[in-house]
Amino acid sequence: MALSSRTQILFSNILKFSSCSQLAASNRSSSWWSHVEMGPPDAILGITEAYKKDTNPKKVNLGAGAYRDDNGKPYVLPSVKAAEQRLLSENLDKEYAGIAGIADFCNAAAKLAFKEDSVVIKDHLNATVQGISGTGSLYIGAAFLSEFLKGTKEVYMPNPTWGNHIPLFRRCGFAIKQYRYYDSKTCGFDFNGALQDIAKIPENSVILLHACAHNPTGVDPKHEQWKEMSKIIKARKIFPFFDMAYQGFASGDCDKDAQAVRMFIEDGHRIALAQSFAKNMGLYGERVGAFTVVCDSKDEAQRVMSQLKIIIRPTYSNPPVHGARIASLVLTDPKLNKQWLQEVKGMADRIIGMRTRLHDGLKKEGSTRNWQHITDQIGMFCFTGLTQDQVEKLTKEFSIYLTKDGRISVAGVSSGNVDYLAHAMHQVTK
Ligand code: LMR
Repeated sequence: MALSSRTQILFSNILKFSSCSQLAASNRSSSWWSHVEMGPPDAILGITEAYKKDTNPKKVNLGAGAYRDDNGKPYVLPSVKAAEQRLLSENLDKEYAGIAGIADFCNAAAKLAFKEDSVVIKDHLNATVQGISGTGSLYIGAAFLSEFLKGTKEVYMPNPTWGNHIPLFRRCGFAIKQYRYYDSKTCGFDFNGALQDIAKIPENSVILLHACAHNPTGVDPKHEQWKEMSKIIKARKIFPFFDMAYQGFASGDCDKDAQAVRMFIEDGHRIALAQSFAKNMGLYGERVGAFTVVCDSKDEAQRVMSQLKIIIRPTYSNPPVHGARIASLVLTDPKLNKQWLQEVKGMADRIIGMRTRLHDGLKKEGSTRNWQHITDQIGMFCFTGLTQDQVEKLTKEFSIYLTKDGRISVAGVSSGNVDYLAHAMHQVTK
């Protein structure tokens, strides 16, 4: 029986509708990703996401370690701006950098860490590649050690350590172990605990060391304590991997902050080193870093270099050029370099000043707790000693955002919010 044209249209629409909904239903039941569970937000960067959603005008973000000026604004270093302008005027091409990155940058980064007259530089013992900031540099390092270090595949990290260290090394096949580091009773370094634990680390394991401005605690070993640690790490044949993400930020002096790395070299260690220029040059988004393996000879360094390139090539092919060009210029141009060193000191000094103001502000609020660790600790972070409950209150009642472990980025404290922070911290701890 012939259908009228209106009925035919209706009928075909019904067919279309039902096949669409069947498709949707079948998509739902056979989705490739139906088993994928919602993951937790990142313990550090997730804080910034929560902060952005908060509409309280008094809100303060002390989560991720990112330097702010005294008006609470992100700070582009004048030396970096000047370098960038010079690069723009040079009309450079956009060719690939090469797998290991920009050679001038790598040389300059290594000299900043080891110093020009170091045996590492003079004898070409370093295999240095450009990395994607600190994390990318650590990752290439962990991948290299995982493949080539004839050892236990165990990495010993300070307890606590930067949250990202753990999943990063785990992804590279390492078993994660810890050594004692922070003493919550003194809010300082647990030197004896660290030595006792290091003395038990099996030979040919990796020990992760924060070169300066330990994250998250702001607690660093003293010179003599580093010396003891160096001795015992050498005696036990443990491989030291330094993470130096804050050179210049601890004391304001890049040489002073590299003292542990340089001491280990003088003591005869062969080390690995990850460097970041996110903090000390304010190049957060440019992702500028470097990874170095210190070898026994120039020939060995060349062989190691070839393997680092083999790891990098399938990982991200080659690194981005813009930030490394800036850093290279700032490190190698004498005038820009001098200016930059002063700017780094300026940032470190502002942070040190804020520590004092926070400490004094808490006293003024009437707090009777001992807050001396706020000024004793150094670098970008202060491990306040606040409990998780107190942290939650700070966020809920005062819109102050920080990581759950009680760490605050002092780099985010400014004249405009320090009194509010002191008041809030007293309210949740009294
Ligand atoms: C931090 O610890 O806050 C910084 O190193 C930023 C990051 O990537 O976690």
